[in-house]
Amino acid sequence: MALTATQQLQINHHSVRRFLDKPLDPGQLDTLISCGQAAATSSFIQAYSVIRVTRPEARQAIAMAAGGQVWIEKAAEFLVFCADLRRINQICEAVGKGELEGYSEHGLAAVIDVALMGQNVMLAAESQGLGGVFIGGIRNQPEVVVEQLELPHRVVPLFGMCLGWPDANTEVKPRMPVESILHQERYQELDPDRLADYDEQMSKYYVGRGANVKLTDWSHATAQAMQGKKREHMLDFLRSKGFFVC
Ligand SMILES: Cc1cc2nc3c(=O)[nH]c(=O)nc-3n(C[C@H](O)[C@H](O)[C@H](O)COP(=O)(O)O)c2cc1C
Repeated sequence: MALTATQQLQINHHSVRRFLDKPLDPGQLDTLISCGQAAATSSFIQAYSVIRVTRPEARQAIAMAAGGQVWIEKAAEFLVFCADLRRINQICEAVGKGELEGYSEHGLAAVIDVALMGQNVMLAAESQGLGGVFIGGIRNQPEVVVEQLELPHRVVPLFGMCLGWPDANTEVKPRMPVESILHQERYQELDPDRLADYDEQMSKYYVGRGANVKLTDWSHATAQAMQGKKREHMLDFLRSKGFFVC
């Protein structure tokens, strides 16, 4: 069956890290955020806030904290997506229910809400010819982000997003075959032959792509990426902000 225009757009997704020196159109960002807000939200809690960062010194500080990701400084827009339980706490108190408990389930609901919203923003942007990249690197030093953006208690920065007009064609990264992801009725262990085929496909992709050429495949690249403890500070950070407390 032929793909719809929306499906074609989704299949063509590729992160963009090089941008033209050109702003978004007037009103465009507000439209993208509205599209983000249209995503489903757990119990309709809308537990997110997005901070638009334009100050060069703030962008620079965050780019450094994220491991020197220069596209944070150069993108037309840089947004920080936060899980926000603060306003829910405010309304709980306002209606006489008292302070919000820091239940893990509340935290998970907020985290999922932000992720769904962010993906909607990205897709809306791509539908208008913009490109972008999510930035998990902001969690390297979340305190830097908190300080730069004056994020209060119960608001945690989860990922950033660079957006702008693409300055380079980036290849689409091949995904795993659907059969490895979509399980029929019950969980099926990964088929080694299917994985070998995918590794071969990815190894050709890594060698053939225009930039950041690598001699590896998906298994090796992924296993390597998952070594060592990562961002060990995050649980304590989240708890200090009132998330995942109980
Ligand atoms: C939550 C999240 C965090 C990410 N963080 C970063 C990041 O800090 N820097 C970066 O360059 N890319 C980042 N990426 C982009 C991924 O590397 C990219 O989506 C993945 O390699 C697949 O490539 P594609 O988006 O081009 O299909 C992130 C993606 C997601 C979903």
